Amino acid sequence: MLTKLRDLLGYPPLYIALQRGIGTDRLCQRCLDSLGLGPGDLLLDVGCGPAYYLDRLPEGVRYLGFDISTRYVDYATRRWGHRARFVNGTFTEAQLATLPPVNAVMMVGLLHHLSDREAEDLLELAARALAPEGTVVSVDNCFEPEQGRVARWMSAHDRGQHVREPESLVALAQKVFKTVDGTVIRGITRIPYSFWMMRMGNPLPRPDLDRSVE
Ligand SMILES: C[S@@+](CC[C@H](N)C(=O)[O-])C[C@H]1O[C@@H](n2cnc3c(N)ncnc32)[C@H](O)[C@@H]1O
Repeated sequence: MLTKLRDLLGYPPLYIALQRGIGTDRLCQRCLDSLGLGPGDLLLDVGCGPAYYLDRLPEGVRYLGFDISTRYVDYATRRWGHRARFVNGTFTEAQLATLPPVNAVMMVGLLHHLSDREAEDLLELAARALAPEGTVVSVDNCFEPEQGRVARWMSAHDRGQHVREPESLVALAQKVFKTVDGTVIRGITRIPYSFWMMRMGNPLPRPDLDRSVE
C-alpha cells in the first residue's frame, strides 16, 4: 500500500495535488520569504521536483533547478521553461564550474533523501556556489521530542531514508558553514508533521571552498 502510494507520487500532477492538499507549499513559501530575493538575484533549487511553487518566486529572480527525477524535470520544463532553467541530475562539481555566484540555494525536502556523506558533499558544493552574503536554506521533516505519534509515523514512513533530528542536521551544516540557525516548524500542514528549517551562511574558510581562488 505504502509502496504503491510512493510510486504514485512519481506522477507530477498527483505529487503536486498532495503537496497542496497537505499544505507543504506553505513551507516553500516560508523558505522563499526568508531569502528575501529581488530582481537579478540567482536562486539555485536542488531537489526542485516539479517546482510547483515557481509562481511564488519574486519578479525578476533568476532560477535554476536540479532534480534526479526525469518526470519531475520534464514537467517543470514544460510548465516553467519560459522563465526558469531545469537540469535533470544532481548538482555537481561540473555544474558548479558553469555558474556565476548564486545569491541563494534552496533545498526543500532534499537532505532527508541523502546520507551524511552525500549531504555534506552537497552542502560543500552549495557553499562554493554562494556569492558573498549568500544563504542556503533547507527544510526537511524531522524527528523531534515534542512531536505526536502521527507526526513521528509520517517521518518514519517517508520516501526519504535519512530523516534526522535537528541536532544531526545542525552538526552536518556546521561542518561547512560558520553561521547555522534553524527552527522547528509545527502546525503548518493540515496533517501533523514536524519540520526543521535551517539557514546556513558564512562558509568555513577552507581553500577548496573559496570561489575567489578559482
Ligand atoms: C520531497 S521532494 C521535494 C521536491 C520539491 N523541492 C518540493 O518541495 O516539492 C525531494 C526531491 O529531491 C529529489 N532528489 C533526491 N535526491 C536528489 C539529488 N541527489 N539531487 C537532486 N535531487 C534529488 C527527488 O527526485 C525529489 O524530487
